[in-house]
Amino acid sequence: MFFLSRIIGVISGKGGVGKTTIVINLGAALASKFKKDVIIVDCNVTASHLGLYLGMYYYPVSLNQVLSGEVRIDKAIYNYSIPGMRIIPASLSLNDLKGVDVAELKKHIKTLFGTADIILLDGAPGFGREVMATIQASDELLFITTPFIPTLIDTMKCFNVASEIGAKPLGIVLNMTGEGRHELFPNEIEQLVELPVISQIPRDKIVVKGLAAKLPVIDYNPRSKASKEIMKLAAHIAGETYKPQGLFSRVSSFFRREKPRRELLDFKLKSLTK
Ligand SMILES: Nc1ncnc2c1ncn2[C@@H]1O[C@H](COP(=O)(O)OP(=O)(O)OP(=O)(O)O)[C@@H](O)[C@H]1O
Ligand SMILES: [Mg+2]
Repeated sequence: MFFLSRIIGVISGKGGVGKTTIVINLGAALASKFKKDVIIVDCNVTASHLGLYLGMYYYPVSLNQVLSGEVRIDKAIYNYSIPGMRIIPASLSLNDLKGVDVAELKKHIKTLFGTADIILLDGAPGFGREVMATIQASDELLFITTPFIPTLIDTMKCFNVASEIGAKPLGIVLNMTGEGRHELFPNEIEQLVELPVISQIPRDKIVVKGLAAKLPVIDYNPRSKASKEIMKLAAHIAGETYKPQGLFSRVSSFFRREKPRRELLDFKLKSLTK
């Protein structure tokens, strides 16, 4: 099957605002609920988290080998347990940064065109070469911010840089909201960045619990407020409408669900980062 792929970069400027969390959950929602074929690419090669968030630690080939010219990008694609969701992880190893040329990212991402409905690029924080490469490889961009001035300043810088490069801005995702009156309001943010706020995801402990269970929160707890907001965001991106599940399907899905097992920390991980 040939797809008219959309390549969507997820960026923020400031770090730790929820890019990877949102990329994973958006991908999971688009695949499971809206039946899209999705590839998620970890474009944060210097501080890769995507695989870790999904419990995928060991993979023979990663984006690093692609960016150092050793293999084609189609050799670094892995199926995730949600049908329709595939991952291109980056390596955890510092050694695997040798020879990596992020300027080559766009060339490799373009070869994925036609292989998925939506290709999501998980961006690095800051304004370094990795982020520039992610913006250049994207056709559309989602800006993630929290409702506070320092984060927003970085989002504005990010938007300015992206405007010069020319990718289409889809809007702002306001993450970790609900902290009280001292937060910026969505309309203030819209005025400052001159982009619409298309989603507001609350700060929710369940997101962190999902992370500990190495599962997207929409899978870990589909009934949480954060999960519902992510579903709405996915519907917006897919151009579809989203109706939250009724009580009956919620109760039956609760009993169907396998409870995630608490796993012991894998200390071999330490050797992967050398
Ligand atoms: N809505 C939320 N509610 C509660 N915690 C959240 C929420 N979104 C993200 N987090 C938590 O915030 C932390 C940072 O999230 P994440 O790694 O996704 O940010 P990031 O922008 O990708 O970071 P980096 O810039 O380092 O790549 C994680 O521990 C994550 O679980
Ligand atoms: Mg991240």
